[in-house]
Amino acid sequence: MKPIFADDAAIDYAANLLRQGRLVAFPTETVYGLGADASNPDAVRRIFQAKGRPADHPLIVHIPSVDSLNDWALIVPDAAQQLAARFWPGPLALILNKRPEVPLVVTGGQNTVGLRMPAHPVALHLLRAFGGGIAAPSANRFCRISPTQAAHVEEELGDAVDLILDGGACQVGVESTIVDLSGNRPKLLRPGHITRHEIEAVLQTELMMISPQSEQTYQFEMRAPGMMAVHYAPVTVAMLCPADRLPEMIQELNFRNKKFGILAYSLEQAENRLTRVILMPERADDYAQALYASLRELDSLHLDMILVEQPPETEAWRAINDRLCKATSAYQP
Ligand code: TXA
Ligand code: MG
Repeated sequence: MKPIFADDAAIDYAANLLRQGRLVAFPTETVYGLGADASNPDAVRRIFQAKGRPADHPLIVHIPSVDSLNDWALIVPDAAQQLAARFWPGPLALILNKRPEVPLVVTGGQNTVGLRMPAHPVALHLLRAFGGGIAAPSANRFCRISPTQAAHVEEELGDAVDLILDGGACQVGVESTIVDLSGNRPKLLRPGHITRHEIEAVLQTELMMISPQSEQTYQFEMRAPGMMAVHYAPVTVAMLCPADRLPEMIQELNFRNKKFGILAYSLEQAENRLTRVILMPERADDYAQALYASLRELDSLHLDMILVEQPPETEAWRAINDRLCKATSAYQP
């Protein structure tokens, strides 16, 4: 499936496909989503098939306005109103208790539903043309890197999708921040572009943090081949390495005649002559935007290993470090 440029006619066509229960990949400001009519269980099942995703892994429903929260959530707490007023449209997903009519296939069998109003103009246009909620996980196969360009979706899903709308490269580059408001205390389930502090400033309360160990998510990819039964594509082993340990790692890999690439952060390291060095941007936002395309590029070289130089570990880098940890978790030195 070749991506098509997302002009008005293409978006109207995409909305029609959604109405027929078909799958449409579309750009959001975070990553590309694989969309289906969230009120049509058969259509939503196709998402799980196309991605090879386990059925108990819930999807985020994309909605066209703050008001549509009421169509999906049983109650919309003040905290949700405040966060939506401040950050929507934008890269924030809210977990709320669901209305009874929300299909369980969307929520992975849970009584809560993830909701987000995306900021990308193509996503918003599509949502308005369609007129309902669009269930959309990232448009990659389960346990692979999320796509940030239309061409990545084509690589990942091929003909498993009925249409790919091309809206250019995603601005944010990592998946939305997820805040769970379904319980007594708000919890941060997934760090993203909107930081913990920005959310706490609006809510005037501390967020409970879900540690990576207890987080039951698989959305970030690049694990060891074969670590998961559903993992078919060859994926290069990736290792997160503190800057001061890079020279010794490089020496060792050279000694062993290994082909490797580096996702570098400091210029000094990038000056080594290696198979492939991608020097990443210095600012966290720019780094995030480039991250998945860069990992994808290194992965396509069929190297023995990808070394990821540890970037800063301050709050602004939380989402990036979260994704890097997940991409490399099996191979921490
Ligand atoms: O930025 C994004 O959120 C992108 C774009 C396409 O909008 N979507 C995305 O979807 O990252 P996905 O399916 O790859 O990740 C959604 C995450 C999953 O980790 C899932 O566990 C969590 O949201 N989630 C969804 N509904 C949930 C619920 N009811 N309770 C807890 N977690 C939920
Ligand atoms: Mg995902």
